[in-house]
Amino acid sequence: MAKKAQATWGGRFSTGTAELMQKFSESVSFDARLAPFDLQGSRAHSAMLAHVGLITKAERDAIHGGLDAILAEVLAGKFKWSTKLEDVHMNIEHALTKRVPAAAKLHTARSRNDQVATDMRLYFKAACTDVIQRLDGAQRAILAVAEANAEVLIPGYTHMQRAQPVFFAHHLFAYLEMLQRDAERMAVVADHANWCPLGSGAIAGTTLPIDREFAATALGFVDAKGRPRVTQNSMDAVSDRDTYLEFAAACATIGVHLSRMAEDLILWASQEFKFVELPDAFCTGSSLMPQKKNPDSLELIRGKSARLQGNLHTLLTLVKGLPLTYNRDLQEDKPPIFDSHDQTVLCLEVLAGTMAGLTVNRDRCTAAVADPALLATDLADYLVRAGVAFRDAHHAVGAVVRLAEQKKVPLDRLTHVDVKSVHEKFGADWVESFHLTKAMKRRTGTGMPGPAQLRRQFARWRKLLG
Ligand code: ARG
Repeated sequence: MAKKAQATWGGRFSTGTAELMQKFSESVSFDARLAPFDLQGSRAHSAMLAHVGLITKAERDAIHGGLDAILAEVLAGKFKWSTKLEDVHMNIEHALTKRVPAAAKLHTARSRNDQVATDMRLYFKAACTDVIQRLDGAQRAILAVAEANAEVLIPGYTHMQRAQPVFFAHHLFAYLEMLQRDAERMAVVADHANWCPLGSGAIAGTTLPIDREFAATALGFVDAKGRPRVTQNSMDAVSDRDTYLEFAAACATIGVHLSRMAEDLILWASQEFKFVELPDAFCTGSSLMPQKKNPDSLELIRGKSARLQGNLHTLLTLVKGLPLTYNRDLQEDKPPIFDSHDQTVLCLEVLAGTMAGLTVNRDRCTAAVADPALLATDLADYLVRAGVAFRDAHHAVGAVVRLAEQKKVPLDRLTHVDVKSVHEKFGADWVESFHLTKAMKRRTGTGMPGPAQLRRQFARWRKLLG
């Protein structure tokens, strides 16, 4: 049954909202986490109202006192949230007005539309910093594994077939590159969030003489020189959700990176590879098969990346085709954002924990990388150094590989006579091409897995990650 008209907009209504509608409409169950940002926004807004003379300094101080008290309650978990008051904004305003009569003036020249847009931009700036810190933590954990196994070589794979030898650390550094780009992307998202929509009102600003720049500066929406950054179109400001899409996309990209890394580790931990041993603390057993040790942390990271992509898709679909400006649909923007934030942070922490307990099975790596076929390309390069065109060299080495297969011997166990019969430019030193240490040393260019480059990259990452 309909209840008494709700106070905030009650003037126009003869009855209140149905209980079912209240249940359907409330967002406080998830947007309560915006409380610190909402309080911060109200503090700046009331300071601005006093600055332009719309409220007195005494009223401002009373409001600030009330906001501080509510913040303390919220942080202590003592604030009583009510779904009847719909969202975080009305819960706080209600509690504030009960304490401080002057709070009835707080909503002057403000709408929940510019209020929630402001709260979320403050939230995004903090969330991006949070994710960047967790990315850093994951990167450090990866670097530590690289440090502990700096000498280890493994086969690198293309098409899941053995391709060429790489240092294990070189492979790990590929993930550091990905996560570094993720951190840079998050910093861009934080920069895009750094515009103040407050003062846009419900859609078209206000007739009252507010000072948007004052509020923006108070909230830290400023450029590198400290100049206020305020949004330039009131209609865009209350309906723009670009930062949401960018944040969700950045989280989804992190998810994809972690998922690929998880997949490599799952393969490496399998009996077939056995390159690494995962920590018991991040694995589970089987309720049926006693021998099993399953890489659940990595599988869940791989699985959660689907969820992060889903959140991005939810947001894209939510905004698509929405007419300007604010529509209530937009309340649904928050659960996927909070979920992406929380799950991304969790995945990064779990990855760091898994890496911290990971050990490398050096014997297995050494055995796998001893496969001379990994250096077939080096043998072609040998011919190139002897003046043979690469296409011809590639063809000749292909014939050598076939010959070794026919004779059922490893590539480096063919005789000089054997290879000479394939191509006359194979000298007596042909077999040197399979000397792994020498082969690695020849990979000298930037970005290559040679030992000198590896040392450079170790130095670079130590410096970057502090
Ligand atoms: N809880 C709402 C949201 O998150 C706040 C904005 C409400 N605005 C409105 N016109 N009903 O979208």
